[in-house]
Amino acid sequence: MDIYAVVGNPVSHSKSPKIHSLFAAQTGRNIDYTAIQAPLDHFQNTVNDFFQSGGAGLNVTVPFKEQAWRLADERSDRAQVAGAVNTLSRSQGKLHGDNTDGTGLVRDLTENNQIAISNKKVLILGAGGAVRGVLLPLVQQQPELLVIANRTVAKAQQLAQMFADFGALQASRLDALTAPFDIVINGTSASLGGAVPAIPPSVISTTTVAYDMMYGTTTTAFNQWAKEQGACLTLDGLGMLVEQAAESFAIWHGVQPETQPVLDLLRRGS
Ligand code: ATR
Repeated sequence: MDIYAVVGNPVSHSKSPKIHSLFAAQTGRNIDYTAIQAPLDHFQNTVNDFFQSGGAGLNVTVPFKEQAWRLADERSDRAQVAGAVNTLSRSQGKLHGDNTDGTGLVRDLTENNQIAISNKKVLILGAGGAVRGVLLPLVQQQPELLVIANRTVAKAQQLAQMFADFGALQASRLDALTAPFDIVINGTSASLGGAVPAIPPSVISTTTVAYDMMYGTTTTAFNQWAKEQGACLTLDGLGMLVEQAAESFAIWHGVQPETQPVLDLLRRGS
């Protein structure tokens, strides 16, 4: 039986063991996938122990994604620019790092929800690790415009510069936004505290799709706000979570699992 795990701190709430077990059952694979809580100052030892004892693949979650990036001997292009790694595997003695978060976000929008990104005006809120982690796959969809808006505008400007070679990116302050966007993605951590980034309501029109990269058992604060401003659709990050897991599964097993049945199960809370 191949051994996989997600490593984080805290990690007991992680849905990854359940998602990967469902993918394995669906594709006829026999895997053991657990959650490992690494001490905050022992991430590297935890990873080394895992692979030395025969582990086949590791997902990495908060707060270790940047450390995983540094630890990897090789990185995919999307992980390289993301500055963070959420999927580790080892082959020929080398640790390979990938980042499937952005692909997960794009697939959830374009495939699960049939929301095209190309030629659309897209706003992403936040300029921390979560946003940097998804920018390359997002900009590769070739939106007409991608605006990164952040409370601390200098961080948005830094990201816009960093990704300038890949497409049309602009940086903005939150309160300087005016015209409505086709898609507004919340990549800030504000929802964790039940807060909403201070953006003008005019960014939302009746044709705007609002997407919160966070999810919870009830509607997130951002999605609730977007609904009140008249957004035509609000989506939370559960679909992104399942899609990033599917992409990790595909890296390890060479087969793309079906995500919709797994997402349906999670939505039903079972
Ligand atoms: P993560 O890894 O989740 O991205 P992070 O790197 O700490 O975490 O970044 C958090 C992001 O959420 C930042 O863009 C932060 O804005 P600042 O750079 O100005 O700190 C944003 N954020 C957090 N709380 C916020 C709030 N209440 N309103 C607006 N933005 C907020």
